[in-house]
Amino acid sequence: MAAFPNKPVLLCLTFTAILILCSVLSIAELQQLEQELKADGSLSFLVVGDWGRRGGYNQSEVADQMGIIGEKMDIDFVISTGDNFYDDGLKDVDDPAFDDSFTKIYTAPSLQKQWYNVLGNHDYRGDVLAQLSPILRKVDSRWVCLRSFIVSAEIVEFFFVDTTPFVDKYFTEPKGDVYDWRGILPRKHYLSNLLKDLDLALKESTAKWKIVVGHHTIRSAGHHGITDELVVQLLPILEENNVDLYINGHDHCLEHISSPHSRIQFLTSGGGSKAWRGDVDWSNPEEMKFYYDGQGFMSAQITETRVEIAFYDIFGNVLHTWATSKQLYATV
Ligand SMILES: *[C@@H]1O[C@H](CO)[C@@H](O)[C@H](O)[C@H]1NC(C)=O
Repeated sequence: MAAFPNKPVLLCLTFTAILILCSVLSIAELQQLEQELKADGSLSFLVVGDWGRRGGYNQSEVADQMGIIGEKMDIDFVISTGDNFYDDGLKDVDDPAFDDSFTKIYTAPSLQKQWYNVLGNHDYRGDVLAQLSPILRKVDSRWVCLRSFIVSAEIVEFFFVDTTPFVDKYFTEPKGDVYDWRGILPRKHYLSNLLKDLDLALKESTAKWKIVVGHHTIRSAGHHGITDELVVQLLPILEENNVDLYINGHDHCLEHISSPHSRIQFLTSGGGSKAWRGDVDWSNPEEMKFYYDGQGFMSAQITETRVEIAFYDIFGNVLHTWATSKQLYATV
C-alpha cells in the first residue's frame, strides 16, 4: 500500500516536472553555439557590417585589410552586423550574390573561420529563409546566420539580436520595398518573446563579459541616428543586465559612443562597403569618442580581465583604440 505515493506527493511531483520542463524550454528558445577559446584563454575577432556589394565601394579593400589584421591577431571568428547583401538580400539559396559578395571577397586564409551573421533591413528585402538556410553552410562552411542566437566562449557571451522587426517604419511605410516577414508575425508576439528570452539568457549568463550584437543602432551620430524602438525596448534590458558592449552596423561608418551614465560602449562597425554619407550629428561631443565616415572594420581582443578594441580604415591604419579591465575575481 505504501508503494504508491499519495495524491499531494503526486501533484507536487507533476508540478515540479512542469516547472523543470518550462525552464528547459525557455532556455532553449535562443539557440546557443559554443566557441572555443585560444590555448592561452583569450579570444580575438573582427567585426564588419553593411558589406555585400560584389567588391564595390571599397568592399574588397576592406576585405584585404581584414585578412592582414586577421592574420596578425590570429582571429578566431568574424562577426557581421548585417546588411549582408545589397540591395535586397538574397533571391534564393542559389543567388550568385552569395559567392560574388562573400565567398569570393573574403578570401584571405585568416578569414576562413566561422562567420556569425545577423540580418539587416536590406536582408529582409530578399528571401530571408535563404540566408538562414543550412544549405548555405554547405556552399561555404564559414556561414552561420540565425535570427537571434548566443555564442558562448566561457569568458564572454555574445547575444545576437534580430533588430529589424523592431523598427515600425518597415511595417507602416515600406516605401515600395517588400519585406519578407515570414516567421515574424504576429510581430508583437515575436518581439515580446525575443525580449523575454534575451533577458532570461543575460540573467543566466555567468560569463565575465557580455556583448550584444544587432544590426540597428542604439546610439549613433550617423545618417540613421538612434533607433527609438531599440532605445525604448532593448536598451533597458542591456542596462539592467550589465552588458559591456553593444555592437551594430546600419550606419555606414565606424564610431564609438559612451557616456559616464552607462557602462555600455556603443560601437558601430558598418563600414564594409558604401560609406561617406557626410551627415554626422551628435549633440553631446563628450560622448562621441570616435567617428569615421569612411570604410573600415573593427577588431576585438578579449581575455578574462581585459577587452581591447580597435578600428581600421581601408589602408589598415588604426584610427581609434579603447580598452577596459575587470578584476579577476570580481562578481560583476
Ligand atoms: C575608397 O576609399 C578611399 C580612401 O578612404 C576614398 O577616398 C574613396 O572615396 C573610397 N571610394 C568609395 C567609392 O567610397
